[in-house]
Amino acid sequence: MKNKNLVKYLNNLIDTDTHKDIMNGTHRIDLSIDQKQTVYDNININKDQIDVIRLEETTNQTANSPHSDTPNGYHTMILPLYFIDDVYTLTFKSFYNGVNSKGYKYRPSGDQFYDGEWLSDDVSAITGIGTNEFDTVIYKKFLSYIDKKNFKGLTIDKLFKWKLGEWIMFPSDQLHAGSIFKTKKRWLTIHYMAEQQIKLKKFVDDGWNWEPHHGYPQDEFFNDSNTKFHECFDQAPQSIIDFAEEKFSKYTLTMMRQPQGQFIPNHKDKYYLFQKKYKLKSNKDIVRYCIFLEDWKPGHYLEIDGKPFVEWSAGDIAVLRPGIYHRSANAGTELKYTAQITGSLK
Ligand SMILES: [Fe+2]
Ligand SMILES: [Fe+2]
Repeated sequence: MKNKNLVKYLNNLIDTDTHKDIMNGTHRIDLSIDQKQTVYDNININKDQIDVIRLEETTNQTANSPHSDTPNGYHTMILPLYFIDDVYTLTFKSFYNGVNSKGYKYRPSGDQFYDGEWLSDDVSAITGIGTNEFDTVIYKKFLSYIDKKNFKGLTIDKLFKWKLGEWIMFPSDQLHAGSIFKTKKRWLTIHYMAEQQIKLKKFVDDGWNWEPHHGYPQDEFFNDSNTKFHECFDQAPQSIIDFAEEKFSKYTLTMMRQPQGQFIPNHKDKYYLFQKKYKLKSNKDIVRYCIFLEDWKPGHYLEIDGKPFVEWSAGDIAVLRPGIYHRSANAGTELKYTAQITGSLK
């Protein structure tokens, strides 16, 4: 068995837990700092990237009905610790594009599985939902613990068969569900931040087709004299193109150069170029990756949804979603360069 010592250690933690935080048939343990360290020592991820680490055991079949764990930007890792016969984790070809840090619960029936259960209301933030009935064979074999209508529109992506001590991994914003199980199952969950960094060569401002533009909306404070920027379309350093090809199913590229003393006022993006290129009616599944082309320089500023970004490194990515306000400023003495990938993630 892989990770034999870690499995034994974690099983012992559950067996000897005296706090017994049990809700709706699920027993959860948040690990202490020392206990977390033992897990870190056994796995190969930078602990600064880990956001959630949690031991769980459940006797409740509905505990893992279709849901996403977090919005985009994290990976989920599951380590099976105890189960009887065959247990699976199933992923669907749908992703949660919203902003709720608790993720999303897919529940077309609207049924609550326990009193006072929270349900999601941002259904428009889910991608890849069809009008299809869910696959009957898969439903009967793995998922018949809840009404079939709760899978309506979903399509299976992968089936992960649980093996003791073998990690299962998928993007945390991907919808997934647990299979039927006997008696109880136990596992460790980790959410870790995905690497939002592209390795870039030193950026050289030479040979790009910059066009002059102005930032909007303009008002008494912001006008053509202090909202200047330069943009070029369908161009970017090769490593950004490679990254876009790997991560996006379809996309457009732009680069921006913001001169010293210029602002882009608070605004929402319309993703006009991308929508036009792919003849899309709505922009709801679109995401924009803003990539900093150089290390941060004093006076350079970006703000997304009220959150300031400074001190970035070349290749860092800030993620922008439809409807989110953002603004930028160059209060420094050097030009500020960024690239944008706009499109649909794979
Ligand atoms: Fe999950
Ligand atoms: Fe924008």
